Amino acid sequence: MAAAKKAGIVPETEEKKPLRIGILGVGGIAGAHIRSYQKMPEDAKVVAGADIIKGKARKRLDQLGEPEALAFDSAEELLKSVELDAVSVCAYNTSHAELTIAALEAGLPVLLEKPMCVTMEEAAAILRAEKKAGKIVSVGFQPRYDPNSKKIKEIVQSGELGQIYYVQTGGGRRRGIPGNTFIEEKTAGMGALGDIGCYGLDMPLNSLGYPKPLTVSASKFDLFGTNPKLYSEAARFDVDDFAVALIRLEGGITLDFRMSWAMHLDTMGPTFFLGDKAGLKVQPSGSGAWDGRVGGLTLYHDAFGDPTETPIHFSTRDVDLFFEKVKAFVTAVQTNGPAPIPTSEIIYNQAIVSGILTSAREQAEIKIEIPAV
Ligand SMILES: NC(=O)c1ccc[n+]([C@@H]2O[C@H](COP(=O)([O-])OP(=O)(O)OC[C@H]3O[C@@H](n4cnc5c(N)ncnc54)[C@H](O)[C@@H]3O)[C@@H](O)[C@H]2O)c1
Repeated sequence: MAAAKKAGIVPETEEKKPLRIGILGVGGIAGAHIRSYQKMPEDAKVVAGADIIKGKARKRLDQLGEPEALAFDSAEELLKSVELDAVSVCAYNTSHAELTIAALEAGLPVLLEKPMCVTMEEAAAILRAEKKAGKIVSVGFQPRYDPNSKKIKEIVQSGELGQIYYVQTGGGRRRGIPGNTFIEEKTAGMGALGDIGCYGLDMPLNSLGYPKPLTVSASKFDLFGTNPKLYSEAARFDVDDFAVALIRLEGGITLDFRMSWAMHLDTMGPTFFLGDKAGLKVQPSGSGAWDGRVGGLTLYHDAFGDPTETPIHFSTRDVDLFFEKVKAFVTAVQTNGPAPIPTSEIIYNQAIVSGILTSAREQAEIKIEIPAV
């Protein structure tokens, strides 16, 4: 066969086999991962899943149309027993680091759900394991695949805004506290900040080229989540439902961030970038918690000596963002390419998220230290 292939008789494509995928943690979002892999049967096949809740892996794999996939009650067992090419880590936030490192130590590339993890120690350990294994970790920020995210980055990177000095980002829901494992520190590590806040940070930071964060001064609140009159699961709630921070970034940029799961207000306002030549306003669509979808893009600048507003065309095309994220990961694994959303960038997102938790706890501005890996 090798000689025939060398002679060009057997086309390369004949030998292409789908990547063998394992799913670590088979709760809610694992469904979106599995459905995405199922849409590319020639490229990927879910062959195994694991969950620490006894029997859950078998039940979920069956429900999700993967009855032939092997089921395990521990990720360790799965990684020991099944030959894989890659994994999706879909467990709750406080398990992200442990599972990602275990997969890397088994020699596997990882598609890791957001937020990257909870603490900077965990983030550094992931980067160290990634370097040692020589395998990629790509972090699951699917809004990056919206055409508007790309357009915003293109505008910000074009120089049209001049020197960018201030960015406001974030958003919020009037009433939108999820339940399940999102509202307890032992599983989620944090609340709105890790659920939707990290998206609010990724969009402007990615547009700016991920400048290094230097300091953060933050507060967080839990006044809705812990109030049984406003939230039915208040007894379990011990994370933030609103976080706010002022972050200094390298390059003289100040980032103003806020994110809420619940508030007495309709919206936290748009995201905007202020430069000395122009400003860009990004009006979110829907609730205002950034999910990649845009409701308006406007450039504010001077034209012929007068303040002028120019609407910028934005896409309303419905893109399957989740599929695009999984596809980009699969392609990177198949081609030995770089991680589509690399930890070298997302460690800055994580540094801000973890920094917000520390600053809020200490009630003081803190210096952000990025561990050398
Ligand atoms: N990208 C997105 O749009 C999106 C949407 C929702 C959730 N998420 C992220 O996905 C992750 C999971 O969220 P979810 O809604 O699926 O939560 P979930 O609680 O429904 O599912 C998590 C599952 O992981 C399992 N688990 C935890 N630790 C484990 C371990 N050590 N080994 C094996 N299984 C383990 C839990 O038992 C649970 O079944 C979170 O990090 C969340 O932030 C991303």
